Amino acid sequence: MKYHNEIQRRRTFAIISHPDAGKTTLTEKFLLFGGAIQIAGAVKSNKIKKHATSDFMEIERQRGISVATSVMSFEYNDILINLLDTPGHKDFAEDTYRTLTAVDSVILVVDSVNGVEDQTRRLMEVCRMRDTPVIVFINKMDRDGKNRFDLLEEIEKELKISLHPMTWPINSGKDFKGVYNLHDHNLRLFTANTKAVDEDDVTAIEDINDSLLEKKIGEADAAILREDIELVDGVNGPLDVEYYLAGQVAPVFFGSAINNFGVKEMLDTFIEIAPTPRSRETTSRLLDVEEEKLSGFIFKIHANLDPKHRDRIAFLRVCSGKFQRNKYFHHVRLDKDVRFSNPYSFMARDKSIIEDAYAGDVVGLFDTGNFKIGDTLTEGENFYFTGIPSFSPEIFKEVVNKDPLKTKQLEKGLLQLTDEGVAQLFTQFGGNKKIIGCVGELQFEVIQYRLLHEYGASVTFNSMPFYKACWLTSKDPKKLLEFTRFKQANIAEDKDGHVVYLAQSEWFLNTEITNNPDITFHFTSEIH
Ligand code: G4P
Repeated sequence: MKYHNEIQRRRTFAIISHPDAGKTTLTEKFLLFGGAIQIAGAVKSNKIKKHATSDFMEIERQRGISVATSVMSFEYNDILINLLDTPGHKDFAEDTYRTLTAVDSVILVVDSVNGVEDQTRRLMEVCRMRDTPVIVFINKMDRDGKNRFDLLEEIEKELKISLHPMTWPINSGKDFKGVYNLHDHNLRLFTANTKAVDEDDVTAIEDINDSLLEKKIGEADAAILREDIELVDGVNGPLDVEYYLAGQVAPVFFGSAINNFGVKEMLDTFIEIAPTPRSRETTSRLLDVEEEKLSGFIFKIHANLDPKHRDRIAFLRVCSGKFQRNKYFHHVRLDKDVRFSNPYSFMARDKSIIEDAYAGDVVGLFDTGNFKIGDTLTEGENFYFTGIPSFSPEIFKEVVNKDPLKTKQLEKGLLQLTDEGVAQLFTQFGGNKKIIGCVGELQFEVIQYRLLHEYGASVTFNSMPFYKACWLTSKDPKKLLEFTRFKQANIAEDKDGHVVYLAQSEWFLNTEITNNPDITFHFTSEIH
């Protein structure tokens, strides 16, 4: 129980959304409340608006984006909040999925006009896989959005999660008057306020039938609100925090991030109910978060974009114990002891060297190629944390080496980039073709650029007619061997030697699944 107090005061989470829903804006308001930044506009969106590598590289270079904003730590009411950033661009979705393994909860931002969008759906799938507790923020209430009931129904249905409204909106768009807090029984009136962190205009209304309501929002809206609340409260009752912590019900807040409306209300609830760092499963046992020995895993590796220095920053999520500068820890995969003289922590936009860190914290470690995603640091014990997924890529291209003299550099580059999790590498059986699988087109441009600038290897890509990669397992090794022989052109090995089936189309995939009941087709592979 030595670190009990440190653990109890930490909340590590991510804000997730479809691009443009308001993630950056909400992040900024949180940082303002945390006193980590002073002015609005200090946090720039990491959106990549144009579909071009040069833009991406330029943005990365200018801001060192993922490094500087990968983790933002700030204090609010004595709680230490670690907010992990996730890339906005869909082509970097895999990075986001892995970041989600390093957080204890998420806030999901939904645009009230657009409702559930593609990325929202995918991100929630990952949250559901891990039973991650979710709070939903319905943003842009100052715009004419969807009907509030329809929107909630859509979110519940599409995201397969029960919702529990904590606040309830009074109109939307230019008639948006504010929200009624169903739990604290008060009315928060909306004022457009894009600049400062002001106290909201709040009136306690214990009894919803109080005539004060008419005075505040007018007769017509008071009548509608009463009707709505009767409906919602009837189904709702008080929030069951245990269900929230189990990822079964998501509290919902309505607001407008740009107007700083409804944000503080959510943040206050967040620090009250959001989970503190929790115990985690490993390959050998359940690791208790209160254990005194250090353990942690690498969930993200970020390359240094200066081609002259090929060092990288590996992000360690601490899961137990105390991380200390200059102390030796055990690198499980390499079976060697390593220490770090310049570990980084991230306070808002600045990174600074830290002396120690506790469960829930994220530490940036300088790395010269020793780490891959999923690696574990301990104080001697050998295990890995489970549940760090590698997702099935959706675009496949063969790597064509344009400069045979640079074959070695190319191989090294490909290995290192795949260690970083930029892409997945498959080697086709028989043909020995190297195939790269990514979630988005932009990744290929980034890989080509980085291979050339960091490794001096010049490549082009040939599109491959595959649609999905599935990892194969079977209780009957003979059946698996038969299948891989028979389907040789579609079989490859991933970097860790696992057998992968590359399907040409959904139809082929479904046919093979039906025809081969003894073989299991997995759409994600767990790194451990
Ligand atoms: P993202 O990180 O999720 O991609 O979204 P971001 O915060 O960048 O917000 C996307 C756009 O939505 C921005 O406008 C932002 O100002 C706007 N926005 C955020 N919250 C609200 C809100 O509560 N109401 C309204 N009406 N708009 C909101 P933009 O024009 O794309 O960018 P900018 O030029 O304003 O920076």
